[in-house]
Amino acid sequence: MPFYHKLGEIPHKRHTQFKKPDGKLYREEVMGLEGFSSIQSILYHHFLPPRVQEVEDMSSIKPDYVDFGPIRHRALATADVPAGGDPVAARRALLGNNDIVLSIARPTKSMDYFYRNAQAYETWWVHEGSGTLKTQFGNLTFRPGDYIVIPFGTTWQMQLDTPEARFFTIENPSQIAPPKRYRNAFGQLLEHAPYSERDIRVPSELETHTERGQFEVRVKVRDRISRHVLDHHPFDVIGWDGYLYPWILNIEDFEPITGRVHQPPPVHQTFEARNFVVCSFVPRLFDYHPDGIPAPYNHSNVNSDEVIYYAEGNFMSRKGIDRSDISLHPFGLPHGPQPGMTEASIGKKETSELAVMVDTFYPLNLTQQALELEKPEYMASWLDGNEE
Ligand SMILES: [Fe+2]
Repeated sequence: MPFYHKLGEIPHKRHTQFKKPDGKLYREEVMGLEGFSSIQSILYHHFLPPRVQEVEDMSSIKPDYVDFGPIRHRALATADVPAGGDPVAARRALLGNNDIVLSIARPTKSMDYFYRNAQAYETWWVHEGSGTLKTQFGNLTFRPGDYIVIPFGTTWQMQLDTPEARFFTIENPSQIAPPKRYRNAFGQLLEHAPYSERDIRVPSELETHTERGQFEVRVKVRDRISRHVLDHHPFDVIGWDGYLYPWILNIEDFEPITGRVHQPPPVHQTFEARNFVVCSFVPRLFDYHPDGIPAPYNHSNVNSDEVIYYAEGNFMSRKGIDRSDISLHPFGLPHGPQPGMTEASIGKKETSELAVMVDTFYPLNLTQQALELEKPEYMASWLDGNEE
């Protein structure tokens, strides 16, 4: 998150001697984006960060994309995807392109190894379950509705407090951040932004481990997993400061912006990244013009593929959509409410819907796993009845 934070012990001046109680030096590490020209943090380790005992190539993790076929709207049912494994192992990539990979995960156990994605930011939106994200920057507890944002290069381990959890995840080889239009020239969130710094949860508890032994870190980079075995615990940080660290925003803390007539999707924007945006649809009052139509108008989002993960409530503009379904409305054809949905929305005062939307500016590909979850009847749902 682009605001300054620090945790633990750090020396008064950066790049100066910082000694352990036994007189030996702590090991300084600068971790930053875009070659020292974007956000960064400085961490102080007990052990030399490059100490790796063993390295091994595990597997390719490149998503297996299939032919999209003729352009059409699609819906994927993810509710009954088999649960099992730890959060990283349970992840199934469904949609993606060079800017993003969208996946779901239904883990049933905590991780017994450490993980670092060195090729992408990761955002884990928590639909069900709770637990703790342990990282070298400190710990963050999470609960349903949380967007857990984990920068490139962060080493982490997720512990679940619940027998099962359900996540919608976003990986992107760019930084994910609050939109610039919500921030002033100094980075502070402006008054019209739908959330403020108070809503951002940052690491507050730093666990410093100095034990030796064998510790497995799985590193995702170059579309492969490398398995590293360290001779020391990877969470050996005594203190750090900077702008780069994992953080959380809960979707309930996103304050909806409403109006007399239908508000466009950008009012729901929550984050921006390279070539896509993330929006939150949250419970809110509907439009209050006396002749207003709460359901959205038909729209041709000409250069934007639109993905929605439907979490809770009754999504009033959609027929044939169930909890945990994902819709893909690609560019190339318009979309909008199905027959009868526009009329049905008139007079409605509020919605309890909760959904996460991702709009990508380049076309998304589907994986074989996505095809297996497809609801083939979705495209025909606009043909129901005698609608004109
Ligand atoms: Fe749309």
